[in-house]
Amino acid sequence: MKIVVLGGSPKGENGLTHLYVRFLRARFPHHDWTVLEVSATITAWEIDESNFSKCIDTVREADGILWAFPVYFYLVPGQYKRFIELIFERGLEDAFRGRYAAVLTTSIHFFDHTAHNYLHAICDDLGLSYCGFHSAAMDDLLRENERERLLDFGQNFLSALERQIPTSRTYPALSERVFHYQPGPASERVDTQGKRLVIVTDLENEESTLGGMIRRFGEAFSAAPEVVNLRAVDIAGGCVGCVQCGYDNICVYRDGFREMFSGKLQTADIIVFAGSIRDRYLSSLWKIFFDRSFFNNHVPAFAGKQFGFIISGPFAQQANLRQILQAYTEIQQANPAGYVTDEFGDSAELDALLQNLAEEVVRLDSAGSVRTPTYLSIGGKKLFRDVVWGQFRHVFPADHRHYQRHGLYDFPQKNYGMRVMNGILYPFTRSRAMRMKTIDKLQELRKKQILEIIGE
Ligand SMILES: Cc1cc2nc3c(=O)[nH]c(=O)nc-3n(C[C@H](O)[C@H](O)[C@H](O)COP(=O)(O)O)c2cc1C
Repeated sequence: MKIVVLGGSPKGENGLTHLYVRFLRARFPHHDWTVLEVSATITAWEIDESNFSKCIDTVREADGILWAFPVYFYLVPGQYKRFIELIFERGLEDAFRGRYAAVLTTSIHFFDHTAHNYLHAICDDLGLSYCGFHSAAMDDLLRENERERLLDFGQNFLSALERQIPTSRTYPALSERVFHYQPGPASERVDTQGKRLVIVTDLENEESTLGGMIRRFGEAFSAAPEVVNLRAVDIAGGCVGCVQCGYDNICVYRDGFREMFSGKLQTADIIVFAGSIRDRYLSSLWKIFFDRSFFNNHVPAFAGKQFGFIISGPFAQQANLRQILQAYTEIQQANPAGYVTDEFGDSAELDALLQNLAEEVVRLDSAGSVRTPTYLSIGGKKLFRDVVWGQFRHVFPADHRHYQRHGLYDFPQKNYGMRVMNGILYPFTRSRAMRMKTIDKLQELRKKQILEIIGE
């Protein structure tokens, strides 16, 4: 069987993901493997179309495709996203259609599932038969049982290919409506109360619906918000994953990204992201924006700020993207003030939604509202805490210093009151009667405390 591996690490053959691919290649030598490190070469391929065409020809000749990439910021690296965009942009879906595909990722398991969901949906859109994923933690190859699991994944994929098993689509095709937005005048101007409001966008065409939405939203305020167009920012390239920023939060790139991010966004009170749906996410430029913000490592960059989202395109059909944006906002300790899309209703309804978002971001900012966290950020924070303290303190000393200073190493072992209480109560769990009594007593105590707070 001919297998083509589409490597997604910006580090190419020097990346960890490549080693997982080599492991599979070494264990299944009777198959014909071609490894193309697309993320590491995509910038050159954008200019030199012939090499990109050669890559697509290799895909055309393959029986199976292995998408092998590191998880970057809830998804694939920006460079890989660009590769995927080019397939659709240049109408090359037919090179993929009818082939079998699987996904192999390396990560610390932070939102690896949203990255898998994304690529699964892309496989469906390309007409590939999706055969599953393997989500490796960075050091898994060093563990016998995890090597076994990886072999199992490889075996299952190759077997599915040989048997040409039937597969079905998981993600329905996206349906986009044709809508021409005609913004109306602002009903009233919202007083920004001296707060700084910044709209970040990747807008290409001022006359597009997204352009109209940004304009109409901006007109809802007494003072025009600043618009940062990522296309005008000097961004020299996507994150290369060198992790030099781990020491002092300074990126190896010397371009305009840091000045824009820290100088304009981190000093704002209210931030609105405005973009258009591109395949199953926003554009690759947006992805590069998020990847490059990794210089903050695992420390929230926007604590206490209001976030709004203005999205053009089929956002309601993209539960995965919504989850990513929600998780991102929560992890930043910011507040998701609202999402506005152009999917439903007419121009007047869209005007009302944009006007409402303008009022909400200012109102919530004045109230200092930050919504309760959910599993997305509570789980994420615990994962970061453990990884920074345990596995990667030497890679992320800047995180370590921040976590120490801000009491973020809140391991449960440090809760001495709880430990004493558990020590006393635990022996009682052996008796069913005592167990019931203990649970009832604790519940009663909690209820009493809460009723006191309520004042009843
Ligand atoms: C910019 C950047 C973003 C990352 N984002 C995530 C993430 O969202 N979730 C995760 O589990 N790991 C994340 N990681 C960790 C990488 O997935 C992990 O280190 C991976 O094994 C690197 O593979 P490579 O050496 O092949 O590039 C990120 C690393 C970088 C540099």
